[in-house]
Amino acid sequence: MALARIGIVTVSDRASRGEYEDRGGPAIVEYFREVLCSPWEPIARVIPDEQPVIEATLRDLCDQVGCCVVVTTGGTGPAARDVTPEATEAVAEKLMPGFGELMRKVSLEKVPTAILSRQTAVIRGRSLIVNLPGQPKAIRECLDAVMPAIPYCVDLIEGPRLETNPERVMAFRPKK
Ligand code: MTE
Repeated sequence: MALARIGIVTVSDRASRGEYEDRGGPAIVEYFREVLCSPWEPIARVIPDEQPVIEATLRDLCDQVGCCVVVTTGGTGPAARDVTPEATEAVAEKLMPGFGELMRKVSLEKVPTAILSRQTAVIRGRSLIVNLPGQPKAIRECLDAVMPAIPYCVDLIEGPRLETNPERVMAFRPKK
């Protein structure tokens, strides 16, 4: 089975300067390690909240590295330096607004400030890019919500076949 590459991008000024340890990226790696049972490898990056840097990182992970899924964490709020959704939409070929809608819905059941997250998802070539909020706890909540649809989305954009551990996440593939 083809080795799936999963890009994991921590967008944080402070983590990229080493002022604190990146906890978001490792939480995402840990999540996929628990959930995926087909072969995959993480390609991790930690970058500042600079829109051109985020765009260049996303383009590289999609076009050169060939990641079928790229997940970002951080930079989705309303503060001046929060520009991850803008960078994501700037590299998009297709917008996938259902991801943000569902993640905000489940997050709102946990915290009222989930409405502040502008997270979205897009398709670029054969890659699905999904924004997650910066909070490590939010990562799991959001990924649990959208993961059932990700393997089929990757099928549709002609990526590798992703298999999930059904005890953790039941991937849904409509019968043809
Ligand atoms: N979603 C969940 N599930 N849990 C959270 O704690 N924090 C919110 C929101 N979404 C949160 C959440 C807050 S406080 C903000 S400002 C936005 O995500 C954006 O966070 P980010 O800028 O770190 O991406």
